[in-house]
Amino acid sequence: MTDSARSDQHPARGAPALATGHAELPDEQATAALALAIEPVLTPGMIIFLCGELGAGKTSFARSLLQSLGYHGRVKSPTFTLVELYNLSRYELYHFDFYRFTHENEWLNAGFDELIGSAGAVSLIEWPERGGEQLPAPDLTVRLRYRDDGASGRDALIAAFSPQGVACLNAACAAGCCRLD
Ligand SMILES: Nc1ncnc2c1ncn2[C@@H]1O[C@H](COP(=O)(O)OP(=O)(O)OP(=O)(O)O)[C@@H](O)[C@H]1O
Ligand SMILES: [Mg+2]
Repeated sequence: MTDSARSDQHPARGAPALATGHAELPDEQATAALALAIEPVLTPGMIIFLCGELGAGKTSFARSLLQSLGYHGRVKSPTFTLVELYNLSRYELYHFDFYRFTHENEWLNAGFDELIGSAGAVSLIEWPERGGEQLPAPDLTVRLRYRDDGASGRDALIAAFSPQGVACLNAACAAGCCRLD
């Protein structure tokens, strides 16, 4: 499946989502509010796919999530390092970026299968479409999009593929950041 795979299907396998929602993100503060709303219901072992074109705001979302989790250090884009590891008080967080992978098994060759979905960590993956069919299914996908009307903000399509993902979607809706479809 291509990078433009629909967010209400598993990006690699086409499995339907359990629930989907839509968030308006007129500025980066709105993206941060979405991350803040989701943070309390994250549980170790979860996998979140961050999808969207170059510059859509995937790293911004990850940075806000880390800040919500109490991380005060610099959050670098993993575009060149491929992964950044954060040892947080509640769990570890692994932030991957598959943009530079040109073959779908490169994440396996890099040994990332040992990390992704591991019981003590939350995994965020930018450009998951480049990981191919063997990438584990996500609990949640957040597809960030430029707005059709050319305005500077973004919107997001959010899809949940597990009960933990549904909890994230519901938390975002309860905080007023998202509307269920
Ligand atoms: N909701 C938003 N509204 C407007 N601008 C935003 C929003 N979210 C992020 N941005 C801006 O978009 C730019 C690119 O963001 P970011 O680096 O997070 O994109 P990315 O999707 O990770 O890109 P890449 O695919 O290159 O990794 C940044 O300047 C950021 O401030
Ligand atoms: Mg990025």
